[in-house]
Amino acid sequence: MQKKTYSFSSSRTTCYFEASFSQINKVVEKERCVFITDQHVFDAHKRYFKGSKLIVIPAGESYKNQPTIDQIIGQLIEYGADRKTTIVGVGGGVVTDVTGYAASVYMRGLPFGFIPTSVLGMVDASIGGKNGIDVGHFKNMVGTIRQPKFLFYDTSLLQTLPPEEWVNGFAEVIKHAAIKDASLFRDLEKNSINYYKKNKKALTALIRKNVMIKSAVVTKDEFEGGDRKLLNFGHTLGHAVENIYRLPHGHAISIGIKAACLISEELLDFKETARVTALLEKYGLPTDLHADPGKIMELMRMDKKKTRDTMNYVLLDKIGKAVIKPIPMNQLEKLIYSISRAR
Ligand code: GLY
Repeated sequence: MQKKTYSFSSSRTTCYFEASFSQINKVVEKERCVFITDQHVFDAHKRYFKGSKLIVIPAGESYKNQPTIDQIIGQLIEYGADRKTTIVGVGGGVVTDVTGYAASVYMRGLPFGFIPTSVLGMVDASIGGKNGIDVGHFKNMVGTIRQPKFLFYDTSLLQTLPPEEWVNGFAEVIKHAAIKDASLFRDLEKNSINYYKKNKKALTALIRKNVMIKSAVVTKDEFEGGDRKLLNFGHTLGHAVENIYRLPHGHAISIGIKAACLISEELLDFKETARVTALLEKYGLPTDLHADPGKIMELMRMDKKKTRDTMNYVLLDKIGKAVIKPIPMNQLEKLIYSISRAR
C-alpha cells in the first residue's frame, strides 16, 4: 500500500493506493466499524463483509434520499454505534454520498472513510467531503462538507464493474483534464477505456492523478468560495438533464460539458469544442442535448451556483484552463434554447 495525506481546514484525509480490501484492518479496527454498502456491491463482494457490522441500502440514485438516511440511522442505533465508531462506505457515488452525510449528522458526527468501488467513485465522488442527498428533482440539495478520514483504493474491485459504469466514470476524468490538465487530456486522446482496463499500472496512475487534481483544488478552497467551483464544469446543465431524464451521471455530465464548450465559444472565443466532443465520444459518452429547454431552465433557476439573476457558469478558456463566468439568467436562457435540440 502507498499512502498520501491531504490536509483540509480542520482534518486530514489519508489515501491508500494499491491497496487490497483484505488489508482494511490495517486502517481501521473492524470491531469498531460499521460498513455501509448497496445491494449490488454486496452481491458482488459478499466475502469481504463476513463477520462485519453491515448496513445494505438499495442500489441507485433514486435511493439517495431521506428515507435511506432514516434507514441507516435506525440501524446505527441498533448496532449501538457511538463516536468511537468509524463508518466505512463501500460503493459508488451514491453510497459514499449517503454514508458521508449519515456519518456527519448521526450524533453530530462520527469519523468515516470510503472504499470506492466504481471509476466515478475513485476519481471523483469519494474525494472532497461534500456529501448529501437529493430532494425530489433537486440533486444534492441537502448535505454537509466533512472530509473522510481515509480513502482506500483497491482497483481489483473494478473487475466486476459493468462496462457502462467504466464509461460513466470517464466523464469526470475528462472533466478534470479539460479544466486543469492539458497533458492528461492528450494522454486520454492517445489511450482508451480498454487500455486502462487492461493496464493496471496505467489505471493506478490515472486514478492517482485524478485524486491529486481534485484534492489540490479542494485543499485550497474546501468551502467553494473560489476555485472549487471549477469542478462544476459540465454540472450546471448536467445535473438538470440528469434529473429530468434520469440519465446516468457521466452521460449527463458529458452532455453538460459539450454545452459548456458551446457557451464558451459564444462568450470566450473558445475554439476546441470539436476536440472535447471527440474525446467524450471516444470514451463512449453521449454529447448531444436533446431536451426541453424550458424544463432545464426551471431546474437551473434552483441551482446552488445561481446568485440572484446570474448563474456562475464554468467555461473553458482553453483545454486545461477553466474560468468562472457570471451569465445573466436571461442571456443563459437564450443560449440554452439555441443549443437544445427537440426531444
Ligand atoms: N464528495 C464529492 C465532493 O466533495 O466533491
